[in-house]
Order: sequence, then structure tokens, then C-alpha cells
Amino acid sequence: MSKGFAEELEALKTQGLHRRMRCIAGSQGSRVVVDGKEALLLCSNNYLGLADHPRLAEAAIRAVERYGTGSGASRLVSGTMELHEALEERLARFKGTEAALVFNSGYAANSGIIPALAGKGDLVFSDRLNHASIVDGCLLSRATMVRYPHNDMAALRRLLERHETAGRRLIVTDGVFSMDGDMAPLRELAALKREFGALLMVDDAHGTGVLGATGRGSAELQGVMTEIDIHMGTLGKALGSFGAYAAASGEIVDYLANRARSFIFSTSLPPAVLAASLAAIDLIDSPEGAALRQRLKRNTAFFRDSLGAAGFDTMGSETQIVPLFVGRAEQTMTFTSRLLEEGVFAQGIRPPTVPAGTCRLRCTLMATHGEEDLARAAELIAGIGREMGVI
Ligand SMILES: Cc1ncc(COP(=O)(O)O)c(C=O)c1O
Repeated sequence: MSKGFAEELEALKTQGLHRRMRCIAGSQGSRVVVDGKEALLLCSNNYLGLADHPRLAEAAIRAVERYGTGSGASRLVSGTMELHEALEERLARFKGTEAALVFNSGYAANSGIIPALAGKGDLVFSDRLNHASIVDGCLLSRATMVRYPHNDMAALRRLLERHETAGRRLIVTDGVFSMDGDMAPLRELAALKREFGALLMVDDAHGTGVLGATGRGSAELQGVMTEIDIHMGTLGKALGSFGAYAAASGEIVDYLANRARSFIFSTSLPPAVLAASLAAIDLIDSPEGAALRQRLKRNTAFFRDSLGAAGFDTMGSETQIVPLFVGRAEQTMTFTSRLLEEGVFAQGIRPPTVPAGTCRLRCTLMATHGEEDLARAAELIAGIGREMGVI
């Protein structure tokens, strides 16, 4: 290995910032075997437990039998199959938009959509806590990126007033912030975008399937479904499958299909994944989906209230993502290791994912967690937190 790489890896280790992957045996249930040890899974985005749901698995198997395993090409060459069109039509119906476009992942969507919509001479206003894939999309776009303080609408207004352009203005925000579990104030963002003639894009990776009366996401919950110009969402989290989408007007979707490089220059998603996504949306729309959302809400309230009462700072969480503030990187990773020894897998989050000094256990709830398991986990976390002086 080159000396430079080895030294950098060593530096990461001494700063407590070195990462390694933990391997899960079997499927992604609420209890898993991780690195050979059974544990309650408290750090998965499989919020509704659909990633190992038999209906999704059956749909994927049927799709493989009928359509094979691969799509063979990118969408604009020969990689558009019936299932791509069916999923896009279903997603547009789900989001109440004229059209939708499927991307290969959320990362591919954000790094493709933003540079397609904004370029040199344009302005992108981006929340400081937006996901890394949005930041990378902004950097790739060569537009001027104006980062505004997290959810600070007065500051955003000042920045919109201060920055003039003859080009486009795009405001982009996470719907649910992935490391904090709070939500963007979409009503106020929609009012600002109208006032300043901007486009509004919402990345609802963590709201899709979960929030709102029918699981349409944070825009449904906040009553602004028709105010969002580009609804971006992912299919690999609550929907238990893989991929992502942009749901928007027919014109914007057509434009993205012609301009988004991550869409154009990549082999399209395979049939099994598309069929699983279609089955997931049907499930989200069924009484079973509504019951799963209710269970997730109950589990979230129980867990957040228990740990809040124990003295943890849950960092303004309003959703199934419940961070527990720890502070320093090494202490956070020690906390994770101690929990795993006791059969609870809750991942520590460190820089560069979050700012230095704000390391946390990012706990995520699932509809399929049992009440007793959660009660035991909350007690264990509080006990170790007290021993380590975190609370
Ligand atoms: C807010 C947000 N946007 C986008 C992504 C990327 O989605 P994907 O995992 O499908 O690439 C993630 C997480 O992975 C996310 O949390």
C-alpha cells in the first residue's frame, strides 16, 4: 500500500474516525445476526420491515422468472422494460404528479437531478444539514451553492434577497433530515419559493412510505403535496427495495430524462428490484401498510419518550430517526461496541457524516420491533449512558 494511504488510515484510527463494515447474516429483520452475534437491529432504514416481506420477495421471484435478471442497457438505449414504465406510472400516481422517473439509487438521483436543473450562472439554496448526495449534486452542477443555516427561514429569505441571478433558483432540502430526524418546514419553503420564483426540490428519502396519513411522505404530512416541484424519494428504505425517483411535471421529467447524467449513463435497474418496488407501493397503500405506520409511530414514541426521560438529548427528532447525543467520536464508538456486546446494534455516527463534536448514536425504529425488545434496549442504553457519563 502507498505510504500516504497507510498514514491517512492510521490518522483516522487515532482520531477514532476509522470505519469498518459489520456483516449481517440472514435477512434484514428487526433481530439480526451481526458479526456472528444475535442483536436487536436499531440502525436500519427498513422502517416498515418490508425488506424481508414475503410479498415483495414473491414479486421479485416472479419478475426474475418472467423477465430474467438484468436489463442489459441504459434506459435510453434498450434498458427500458415494461416494469420501468409500470413503476414510473405507479410512482406518479402515488405522488399525485404528472410523471415520474426512476433512478438507480438516491445518490444517483441527487447527483443527477441537481446538475440537470442548475448550472453555471444559476443559484442552488441548500440546507446546511442536507444529505451528502445533495451536496455532491450541488458541487457537480457548477451552479453557485448557497448553504443556509439548518431550517432557518429568516436566513434563507435574506440569502434569496441578497443573491441576484438572471438564471434559475433552486431550493433543495431533505424532507426528513437523515441524521437528526427532524423535518424541513415545507409550508414556509413553499411560500419562499413562490415569492422568489424558485423551484423547490424535496428529498424525502426518510419520509416516503412512513409519514402522512397515506405514507406519501413529509409533504403529505404538512399538507403541501402540490407545492413541491420535484419530489425526490428512495425505494431502498421504508419501501424495502432499491432505487429512487423524481416525481414532477411531465416537462421536468422529460427534461431530466434528457439531461440527468446519472440517469442517462448507467445500466437501468433490474426486473426483480422494480417488481419489489411495485409490490411495496401496493403494500404501503393497503390496510396492512396503514397498520405498519401506526406500529412504527407507537414504537417511535415509546423509544423517544423513554430515552428522553432517562436524560438523553434526542436532538429535536420528530420521526422514526432518533439520535442520542454523545459528543466525541471515540466515546460514541465505545458506546456502540458496548451495546453490541449486550445484543443491541445501534450505529455511532461521526464526522464527516455529522459535524465534529456532535457524534451520536443514530437509532432508527422499525414497525416490526417488539415492545419488550424496545423496553429492554432502552433500559440497556440508559444504563450504559449513565455509566459512561453521557447522561
Ligand atoms: C436524505 C437522503 N438522500 C439520499 C440518500 C441516498 O439514497 P440511496 O441510499 O438510495 O443512494 C440517503 C441515504 O442513503 C439519504 O438519507
